[in-house]
Amino acid sequence: MPTIKEILQTMDYGPAPESTKEANAWLDQHGRRFGLFIDGVWSEAATTFATSNPADGSELAQVTQATGEDVERAVQAARRAQPGWVALGGHGRAKIMYSLARLLQKHARLFAVLETLDNGKTIRETRDADLPLASRHFYHHAGWAALQAEEFADYRAVGVVGQIVPWNFPLLMLAWKIAPALAAGNTVVFKPAEFTPLSALLFAEICQQAGVPAGVVNIVTGDGAVGEAIVNHPGIDKLAFTGSTEVGRIIRKATAGTGKKLSLELGGKSPFIVFDDADLDAAVEGLVDSIWFNQGQVCCAGSRLLVQESVYERFIAKVKLRMQNLRVGSPLDKSNDIGALVDPIQQQRIHALVESARSEGCDVWQPACEAPAAGSWYLPTLITGASTSAAVAQAEIFGPVLVAMSFRTPSEAVQLANNTVYGLAACVWSESISLALDVAPQIKAGVVWINTANQFDAACGFGGYKESGFGREGGKEGMVEYLTPLSEDARPAAPIVADKGRVKALEEGSPFAIDRTAKLYIGGKQARPDGAYSRAINGANGAFLADIGEGNRKDIRNAVEAAHKAAGWSKATAHNRAQVLYYIAENLAIRADEFAQRIAAQTGSKDAAREVAASIERLFYWAAWCDKYDGAAHQPPMHGITVALNEPVGVIGIICPNENPLLGFISLVAPALALGNRVVAVPSEAHPLSATDLYQVLDTSDLPGGALNIVTGSASELARTLASHGDVDAVWRHDGSAEGCAEVERLSSDLLKRTWVGGAKGRDWFDAKQACGRTVLQHASQVKNVWIPYGV
Ligand code: NAI
Repeated sequence: MPTIKEILQTMDYGPAPESTKEANAWLDQHGRRFGLFIDGVWSEAATTFATSNPADGSELAQVTQATGEDVERAVQAARRAQPGWVALGGHGRAKIMYSLARLLQKHARLFAVLETLDNGKTIRETRDADLPLASRHFYHHAGWAALQAEEFADYRAVGVVGQIVPWNFPLLMLAWKIAPALAAGNTVVFKPAEFTPLSALLFAEICQQAGVPAGVVNIVTGDGAVGEAIVNHPGIDKLAFTGSTEVGRIIRKATAGTGKKLSLELGGKSPFIVFDDADLDAAVEGLVDSIWFNQGQVCCAGSRLLVQESVYERFIAKVKLRMQNLRVGSPLDKSNDIGALVDPIQQQRIHALVESARSEGCDVWQPACEAPAAGSWYLPTLITGASTSAAVAQAEIFGPVLVAMSFRTPSEAVQLANNTVYGLAACVWSESISLALDVAPQIKAGVVWINTANQFDAACGFGGYKESGFGREGGKEGMVEYLTPLSEDARPAAPIVADKGRVKALEEGSPFAIDRTAKLYIGGKQARPDGAYSRAINGANGAFLADIGEGNRKDIRNAVEAAHKAAGWSKATAHNRAQVLYYIAENLAIRADEFAQRIAAQTGSKDAAREVAASIERLFYWAAWCDKYDGAAHQPPMHGITVALNEPVGVIGIICPNENPLLGFISLVAPALALGNRVVAVPSEAHPLSATDLYQVLDTSDLPGGALNIVTGSASELARTLASHGDVDAVWRHDGSAEGCAEVERLSSDLLKRTWVGGAKGRDWFDAKQACGRTVLQHASQVKNVWIPYGV
């Protein structure tokens, strides 16, 4: 008699195909030709291109390539519709969004099949992941619409939003983009990817059924040229893009200086870390979800497997065994795990990268199974023996290809995990909660999954660090991406010049009365400028006040190096950071009169004492926030919690305003320090002495050397160096130079640094609404969501 094992080995899955009848009927109903959905109506299909089924190469439909005029019409329609959409109120919008969620559920099967046909991903995934999550996003955000007046009382909708998405999760990305935008009161011009436009077109019909007013959602199809037209349209107030890092850079450059709000969700090369105490079998299943989900065409795919040396061989053997059981084939078959790649071009890209690894001597392993003859496919692949700098270990392959390496210690795991330009996600597998929670904050990534993988929820923000982009989708932080603080509207058109009084000479006995050259402040020490040049600073009455050091590129480099060495500041307790800021305030208060005199001497301000008092108050204010800007504990539909941590951005370069030389400086530097960032500040170019006078205050306030570095000189030249520096994580510029701000944004595109620029407008630094609050805290931090399931 055969054993059970032998019987099981002879058993196989029978075919379990999903019917395409309904989807084909829908395509036929449209004559398999689609126009654009603009202002609530369909245009006639004009110049079209084919969208095909990647599983067999057959054409599904012809879709319109939108023109510049089409984009113009869509933007105009969105602009006209926006006030009415806002006027509907939170409840009015919530009802329509709830209806969209319901309709997505009602037509889930049709959407799932259509998505599988157009994209090649398996029906199991479209049915069980894409659709439930897409409708969940509309439900969740219907809730935000209802709560907007209460939870976002100090904000308004941004306006007209341009949204461009890739082909890997066509409907899900649509939901991630459109749901928060609509909830906040924006109207949208949305472009699906050229490979996968169909589910967005079906969604347009759902909008009609749900009663979305004409012009609120406009869908334009076409290639990158249509995306470009949206990006460059002056009527767009915000852009939200998901796609390749390369196009993300182009968009960052194209929008520099335009004032358009921008969020970018880009590529990744996410580590999947397995410690020797992990539940190895569970980790193997997690790995399947991580790298073979959606054929690996996932921005947060766990494409770099890092396994602790002692279990490496054992784990790799288990992975290979599991890979042999992955079923590759028709994506419409409910029992298949791996479907088709989106297009033959993707297959070629993957093939080229894998072959580069083979030619470098890596071991390339694939299970013994066959892919269908027609269509675009790639077998699950495991690469071992790659060096850390190999292309396959660094580039986003965007296919079912896993690159495995080993590590010895937790710190080596962290170092390997962070050894990439990306920072989207990471998985940590260990049965030791202490180890896992120690490692998670050290990984530079927007999402960390502990003992799980590829979990998403509308309540939890998703987005990257470093070159994986900026901005979050989902959660409260995702809503903020679609809102503008009311305080922005209150900003004056130009920087405010102080009311001038009669300028007095500095009093006898003032330490500032002694004529000397103020040096730079680097690593907690005064430093001579590298170029040995200085510039003269004249007072408001035209008389010479002092010389200051003329900082150059080398000085900025030294300052950035010092800031990196001061990493301890980011690890200091919030209580400790608050103490230091209070101490600075206390020491400043002791010398308030001298500082007021100095401000008056530089700017001629009539009420310089008020500026000093406001600066002291502001230090207290940001000290107060240090231990109160807590994260959140989300409760996604999983047994566990997702902890949203507010982490520092890293090293921030700050170009301070020209006006209010002390208050402007403190208003920007203090919040950055409060949240644990290290700072390289360029003080007011016109009136830098209020910052250089602070050196002694800083020296006596326990601020660790390097946490704050001050480089005086030309704001534009120093900003340029900061924006192009590889080790600066963010640049803020608030000196009222429109061109300078545009340049900072342009230069920051290479490394996709975060920027916060004020443009040509001014800011009333005395007004707490304009200079304080959560908006500033958001600029000074980035949210990391750590998923911690338990009891499973
Ligand atoms: P892509 O970034 O070129 O396309 C994404 C979207 O941007 C599409 O809708 C496209 O039409 C649009 N687009 C293209 N050029 C544009 C431009 N200049 N301005 C505005 N919009 C533009 O991605 P593609 O070519 O589809 O894939 C190339 C590679 O990018 C993939 O192999 C993969 O490595 C990576 N990728 C990463 C994604 C992620 O989520 N991280 C998503 C898609 C692709």
